[in-house]
Amino acid sequence: MTVVIGNQKGAPTEEVFPELTRDVIDRMSNAKSARLQEVMEVVIRHLHAIVRESKITQGEWWQAIDFLTRAGQMCSESRQELILLSDILGISMLVDAVDHVAGPGISDSTVLGPFYAGHQRELAQGDSILLREEASAPLVMSGRVADPEGQPVADALIEVWQTAPNQLYDVQDRDQPQGHLRASFRTDMAGTYRFRTIMPVSYPIPDDGPAGQLLAAMGRHPFRPAHIHFMISAPGYRTLVTHLFFEGDEFLESDAVFGVKPSLVVRPELQDGTSTVEYNFGLAREFNPGSNRPPSFVAANNKKSRR
Ligand code: BEZ
Ligand code: FE
Repeated sequence: MTVVIGNQKGAPTEEVFPELTRDVIDRMSNAKSARLQEVMEVVIRHLHAIVRESKITQGEWWQAIDFLTRAGQMCSESRQELILLSDILGISMLVDAVDHVAGPGISDSTVLGPFYAGHQRELAQGDSILLREEASAPLVMSGRVADPEGQPVADALIEVWQTAPNQLYDVQDRDQPQGHLRASFRTDMAGTYRFRTIMPVSYPIPDDGPAGQLLAAMGRHPFRPAHIHFMISAPGYRTLVTHLFFEGDEFLESDAVFGVKPSLVVRPELQDGTSTVEYNFGLAREFNPGSNRPPSFVAANNKKSRR
């Protein structure tokens, strides 16, 4: 017996109900924004193609709707499940690749992640970003921020954040002082920055919700290689959102969010018994001024829940 899927005439599924797709697209002729219309046409074409190509059943569609509903319901001031989904599916890195200005003298960017908590206390050059002692190897980070021609960018805002040795950010852990292992610095006239911290550790992204269930269903682990987040901004330049990763980490090749780029992997050197990393950042010029600083999804004073 021949099984005909979704089409009485037995046409290949890619030809099922093409006039519906056309109709949905055509009804946007009064769209309020040309850009919205342009993007929504692509979205509609691709979503309809997914249904046809994957021969989605009614049951699977209800499952998908239930999944998205649960992902939305999981979002709160301290939890952004939709960013996690975008990250584990490689969408965040793809948007970054499409929108990033690359070129000589410009640093590579990577995902923001959901744990940027807004502007933090500004510290002086050489200060520590710890608010309590940790039993971890100390690390000194330093370097320069320059324009694409290598000229120093003075007074750039450098925001950094990382997890504690227990694999949690302060905003995930009610036992950490708020602001622990995150801070802001300003570059000096020579574009230099310097701060003290501890060696970061690899950690699992929050996997107790729908994004984690999807990861497990896809047979993937939730770990990210150890890293320190940097967000560097200065008037006239594109805000650089990036991390530095550490050579030898077992998850460099399988980062759960695909964020590793070779140029962002560093090897600490021992100076007077302390691990040190010197890393220079290059900022792209911003030709379309307007804020490209990403919003913080984690309220600075949220009630701290574990994840
Ligand atoms: C992070 O590095 O903070 C992060 C990035 C993506 C998903 C979860 C966490
Ligand atoms: Fe992180």
